[in-house]
Amino acid sequence: MFTITTDKKQPSSVHHLNRGVDLYIHIPFCKSKCDFCFYISVTGTSEEERFCYLKALEREISARWSAYEGKQVVVNSLYIGGGTPSILSLKQWEVLVMILTRFWDLRTIPEVTVECNPSSTTQEKLGFFKEIGVNRLSFGVQNVDDSVLAAMGREGTKDALPGLLESTRSAGINNINCDILFGLPGENTASVVQSVDVLVELSVPHISVYPFTLQAKAGFFMRMVCKNALLLPAYLRIAHYQEAINRLLEWEYLRIHTAHFGISYRYECIQHRNYWDGGEILGFGVSAQSFVDGCYLRNTEDLNGYVKNNDNILSISLSKKDQIRRWVFMGLTKKLRFHYEAMVDRFGLDSLTVVKEGLERMDREGMLSKKQNIVQLTDKGMEHSHLIPILYFRFENQNYLRYALRIPEAQLSKFPET
Ligand SMILES: C[S@@+](CC[C@H](N)C(=O)[O-])C[C@H]1O[C@@H](n2cnc3c(N)ncnc32)[C@H](O)[C@@H]1O
Ligand code: SF4
Repeated sequence: MFTITTDKKQPSSVHHLNRGVDLYIHIPFCKSKCDFCFYISVTGTSEEERFCYLKALEREISARWSAYEGKQVVVNSLYIGGGTPSILSLKQWEVLVMILTRFWDLRTIPEVTVECNPSSTTQEKLGFFKEIGVNRLSFGVQNVDDSVLAAMGREGTKDALPGLLESTRSAGINNINCDILFGLPGENTASVVQSVDVLVELSVPHISVYPFTLQAKAGFFMRMVCKNALLLPAYLRIAHYQEAINRLLEWEYLRIHTAHFGISYRYECIQHRNYWDGGEILGFGVSAQSFVDGCYLRNTEDLNGYVKNNDNILSISLSKKDQIRRWVFMGLTKKLRFHYEAMVDRFGLDSLTVVKEGLERMDREGMLSKKQNIVQLTDKGMEHSHLIPILYFRFENQNYLRYALRIPEAQLSKFPET
């Protein structure tokens, strides 16, 4: 029997904005498109096209931020992601910063992250980032075996890494994340372990380990098919991912979130934590996602449409019960765990009734472990985590699963709604 007890009497009914907001800006430009990548980005854009995009960003921010102005909302974090923000020239960065500082004082935001590709991160840009208030950088490394990357149309950056990290630190930015991606065609266990070891030996304080995910997005499958890329069988993808995790734990990195490892909790990414904790996030730019007042929003994924002011926004409103389901699901699968007291604090004493049946079933099936009201997935639970929102928590609004979580229709119809 899955039992949880609490001393909590009543939820603290805090207005949603009291927790502040987190901001995300999408920069959809890359030097070349990596075959494995499903993010919305384009290559070969002209100077003028990039400026037009920045203008469109300004228009969107101006329109949407006006609802917050004068309310003294605290901004917890700003994440400039992509695509590849580091590909913008210094001149384009200056324009972007001019736009952003119309609305926010970047220097007062506790966490300001920029996503960078090692090959477009120069010493000058690092100095500029420091100057404007950037205090966290996230580099895409993916794998240190350059032949694996070359087969996916990506430049290898292994040799450049030591110099890059040294320059980043000497520019005064020490909060550094590197992404590694496992399950790519052509990789083997040795390259997995080596990728972890290289980053650990370079004292990277935060490492994100992502399993290669296939997404039904325009262009994505075509790129894989045209390359005739032989996908690794699922068992090997899982084995490589597990190997990377084990290696990081052996090196005594802490597992901060499901895919995030750090030498200390000090390096936890504020934006990710807040988003997965059901916080308010405002995303600007093509394909950017937001979560505002119980509503999931996603901007158009069509770059031309976005620039032409086509305000095509996907909007999926979640009932209070679905918000509880979302919070528990994100807690288990993204944050690694959720605390029952925190759930009561946020959603009230009756929130357990919404997820109790699902949690009990997961418990019976060996997918959960519980220690002092902290609930987390077992290894078996991790392996089947994609089934949680379909099978165990039964969202009322199936559009959230279809469009926000992008769960294929075939999977949804396999488990019909009750
Ligand atoms: C939007 S990219 C930004 C990083 C930067 N553009 C670069 O590549 O150096 C963020 C991360 O998404 C991850 N990623 C890309 N494609 C993925 C996929 N198919 N499955 C899982 N993660 C993926 C990669 O690890 C990548 O570093
Ligand atoms: S992984 Fe980074 S560089 Fe490659 S296509 Fe995706 S966003 Fe661009």
